[in-house]
Amino acid sequence: MKLWGGRFTKETNQLVHNFNESLSFDQKFYRQDIQGSIAHVTMLAKQGILSQEDKEAIVSGLEGILADLETGKLVIEPGAEDIHSFVEEKLTERIGEAGKRLHTGRSRNDQVALDMKLYTRDQIKEMDQLLYNLLEELLKRMEENLDTYMPGFTHLQKAQPITLAHHLGAYFEMFSRDRGRLKDIYERMNYCPLGSGALAGTTYPLDREYTAQLLGFYGPTLNSMDSVADRDYLIELLGAMSIIAMHLSRFCEEIIIWNTNEYQFVEIDDSYSTGSSIMPQKKNPDIAELIRGKTGRVYGAMVALLTTMKGLPLAYNKDMQEDKELTFDAMDTVKGCLLLFTGMISTMTFRKDVMENSAKKGFTNATDAADYLVKHGVPFRDAHGIVGRLVLHCLDKGIALDDMSLEEYQAISPVFEEDIYDAISLKTCVEKRTTIGAPGREAMEQVIKEYKKQLAERKVV
Ligand code: ARG
Repeated sequence: MKLWGGRFTKETNQLVHNFNESLSFDQKFYRQDIQGSIAHVTMLAKQGILSQEDKEAIVSGLEGILADLETGKLVIEPGAEDIHSFVEEKLTERIGEAGKRLHTGRSRNDQVALDMKLYTRDQIKEMDQLLYNLLEELLKRMEENLDTYMPGFTHLQKAQPITLAHHLGAYFEMFSRDRGRLKDIYERMNYCPLGSGALAGTTYPLDREYTAQLLGFYGPTLNSMDSVADRDYLIELLGAMSIIAMHLSRFCEEIIIWNTNEYQFVEIDDSYSTGSSIMPQKKNPDIAELIRGKTGRVYGAMVALLTTMKGLPLAYNKDMQEDKELTFDAMDTVKGCLLLFTGMISTMTFRKDVMENSAKKGFTNATDAADYLVKHGVPFRDAHGIVGRLVLHCLDKGIALDDMSLEEYQAISPVFEEDIYDAISLKTCVEKRTTIGAPGREAMEQVIKEYKKQLAERKVV
């Protein structure tokens, strides 16, 4: 049964119905649809637009439908056009006349705008919780690895020594900003569109402040046309989710590299790896690869919705129904990735010895050798040249800077003394870097204290 059959003389063509319907995907927010309807009729009754009996019949009818949907006693079968029609139809079947009064002073345009906002709000909270869990895990791993030396890279070439805690801390920062973005979006979107009607408000004396308050919004939206036509917040969220996916993807790329036979910096746990059907020796980082791969569909959803919205005249247009499948898929994808990623990190073995050995090779202390000369009065540009020659010499002999004799050092520059060895030791290179944000333990401990405070202050949105 269509909500709008009155004006029509023919049945909808079946293909048209199939193309037009949204029940197959908007049933995802049946809870929010019912929650919104309960708030709506509560307000209608308070305003004297609906009788107390009708309101009570509707509310208990809706609660019954919700309970039956939750337990599976009531199943959403194809037929209705959308979840809004489905709920209204069931309500009228169950409580009769009163059910037909549910939609007083409301349009599906403000209804769907509300449902999508309520659903999105819940999703933001879930995503924020998952980010929070990941940050907690990262922090734990950081504290365990304040002294785990490893090479830091630029251009994927060994650059300077850092610690694993410092490397993980970079991701801590990224995922913290991701939480910040979710919070910003939540703050901006949390205004209630209900009561905007189809586009021009209604002539009923609705109390929009009241419904907004019942539903936990900061207040009502202030322009009824914008209320039914705004999907900005979804595009913002798709943007924020794209950034989360990008951060996860970068991290996964590193884990995949670190997990190779050549690096062996980490070992992904058996429970988070898969094998090969033909090569018995294989243990593949499929989960990291899949998370990296899924980034594409999240970006895709963002571009798709931006494109859908770009030519739409005010106010509601059916094009906007396209927002749902895209956004739902992106939300489920990002949540799944966050969950799996956190599990993978928490079970992964970091091979401290391999990381440290790797840091010792590849001249990661060359900058420190140059700084040694600078501290002894050599201009930095000259020092750079001298150490370049040291590196050439080492490459020629297949040794590290630490392995050169003092005579070899002094043959290239007489400024070098016995204390050069201490100045370029891995420990010195890391621990002397104590400015805030640097990898030295002293600096890291301060930063970790700050991270702990941040996590304690804002558990979830
Ligand atoms: N399924 C529709 C959507 O997702 C609900 C709103 C329908 N409104 C309308 N005027 N046809 O956008």
